[in-house]
Amino acid sequence: MQTDPLLQMRHIVKIFPGVRALNGVDFTLRKGEIHALMGENGAGKSTLIKVLTGVYASDGGEIKVEGQAVSIRSPQDAQNNGISTVYQEITLCPNLTVAENMFIGREESAWVKRKDYEKRADEILSNLGIPARSTQELGNCSLAVQQMVAIARAVDMKCKVLILDEPTSSLDDKEVNMLFDLMRDLKSKGVGIIFVTHFLEQVYEVSDRITVLRNGELVGEYTVEELP
Ligand SMILES: Nc1ncnc2c1ncn2[C@@H]1O[C@H](COP(=O)(O)OP(=O)(O)OP(=O)(O)O)[C@@H](O)[C@H]1O
Ligand SMILES: [Mg+2]
Repeated sequence: MQTDPLLQMRHIVKIFPGVRALNGVDFTLRKGEIHALMGENGAGKSTLIKVLTGVYASDGGEIKVEGQAVSIRSPQDAQNNGISTVYQEITLCPNLTVAENMFIGREESAWVKRKDYEKRADEILSNLGIPARSTQELGNCSLAVQQMVAIARAVDMKCKVLILDEPTSSLDDKEVNMLFDLMRDLKSKGVGIIFVTHFLEQVYEVSDRITVLRNGELVGEYTVEELP
């Protein structure tokens, strides 16, 4: 028996004054898949992600997570459905430590002792092979490591769908490879990753499938092998 996809977005419509940003777009993500979302400027990539993460209300369409229809009206709804985004511009606090950034604002962190969450942070970092220590100030880490800490935080919050919006644009080659290793590791742990990018080379290197949008329309969904 075929299991339900991790995520199904069907016929998604989003209208801004004067623009149909999304005109009935479909997008499917499987468990343990890295799925690239591509398209020219203005294609609708960010809008699709914002509908998925509850930043925008859609004007039509449906979203299913593991086969169940869900209503995502806020970022909190997205979080509750296991959907997390790591934005290109890091949204963590550079003057706090790595561990503080991983646990800040999370209910369970209120009563946990500093030493305990530092220990837990170090375990998570080492499990994911992220070269940082829990007690380091985040702002002293490279951008790549800061981004990986944001990913570690999302993963520890049980995210099933991880969205990376242009994650490589400010990284050098070595850092890109580090990020790809982390993505492959999460994939092997069953996380579904949506990789929004402009870089076709990187898509070939790390993705399983690709969805291409143009002017708010779905151009197609391809496996990496199918593409020239
Ligand atoms: N908040 C908004 N208000 C009005 N129009 C918007 C808004 N956000 C996006 N649009 C329009 O919707 C369309 C899709 O934009 P979107 O940002 O989703 O494209 P994108 O694929 O992410 O492009 P880029 O590669 O430049 O990031 C564009 O025509 C854009 O101008
Ligand atoms: Mg965009």
